[in-house]
Amino acid sequence: MSDDVAPDQAGSDQPASRHTAAQREIEEGIERDFTRNLSYGEYLELGKVLSAQHPRSVPTRHDEMLFIIQHQTSELWLKLMLHELQSARELIRKDDPRPALKRLARVKHIQVTLTEQWSVLATLTPSEYAEFRSFLATGSGFQSWQYRAVEFILGNKNAEMLRVFEHDPAVHAELSGLLGEPSLYDEVLAWLSRQGYAVPAELLDRDWSRPHLENDALTDLFGQIYAAPHDHWGVYELCEELIDVEDNFQFWRFRHLKTVERIIGSKRGTGGSSGVPFLRRALDLTFFPELYAVRSRIQDVEPEGYHHD
Ligand code: HEM
Repeated sequence: MSDDVAPDQAGSDQPASRHTAAQREIEEGIERDFTRNLSYGEYLELGKVLSAQHPRSVPTRHDEMLFIIQHQTSELWLKLMLHELQSARELIRKDDPRPALKRLARVKHIQVTLTEQWSVLATLTPSEYAEFRSFLATGSGFQSWQYRAVEFILGNKNAEMLRVFEHDPAVHAELSGLLGEPSLYDEVLAWLSRQGYAVPAELLDRDWSRPHLENDALTDLFGQIYAAPHDHWGVYELCEELIDVEDNFQFWRFRHLKTVERIIGSKRGTGGSSGVPFLRRALDLTFFPELYAVRSRIQDVEPEGYHHD
């Protein structure tokens, strides 16, 4: 049988298939010579990225690779999240909230990805983790500076966290900077004020290194906005976007907690905390307290034709 005759034409009893093939032809135009041209791996510096996984267990335990990659990919997504949040904050500072909404939309998808990702780690059983846990010594996600940076930019300011990073002056300086800057929420409030909304003055000029505390007058202001969303659509939309981000942040915290619980139960953390009880207390934290408070003030709309006695 000649090489260029299809099997079915040659009388083979194999049925012709137009949708499956054992091999795909590599098109002529596809670049193959990277002696001079920029390649994929070079652009992405994959040499560095893919040689940064070093299990510490001796002898090497199979499951430590999962543990390392789960953390490293989380850190990469946190890096992008920080990049987007910083830009969103800057855009709001410059009175340009529409592209900021686009940034926040991306942040929300990153958060969903990070939360979904817990299901990969959940395949790690307690016995598998116990095989290499002692090799982590005192290392813990608690020391993730990018996570703290994201928390700071969203408004969960806590100067005590800086102590953990004193051993690393560059990171310490970066986090101290973020601690002393207005958060995304602070910038939203300043923008609202510039739009003519009566934001309480004490929220517009304060010690930014301290967390924002719930303010009743601000909840009153949001009450007016939420009572007539169509009259304040831009503000209303941005507020709901912030709620989405906080919701997603809490989903991540919750999945972390439940994954930790199924892997270490009630053991203490490698970072020295009580473990699950400590993580559970983070579920009470809020970045945007008034945006939650306003929800209890919204009046139900009565059905048409309904009259009180
Ligand atoms: C087997 C897997 C994991 C276990 C058992 C675990 C356990 C813990 C525990 C017990 C804490 C509290 C601090 C401590 O005492 O260590 C903690 C904090 C933390 N972990 Fe994990 N973790 C795991 C995976 C991860 C992953 C994959 C990330 C992704 C970056 C992560 C990020 C964090 C962060 C950001 C904190 C600080 C949370 C806060 O301050 O509320 N953890 N972890």
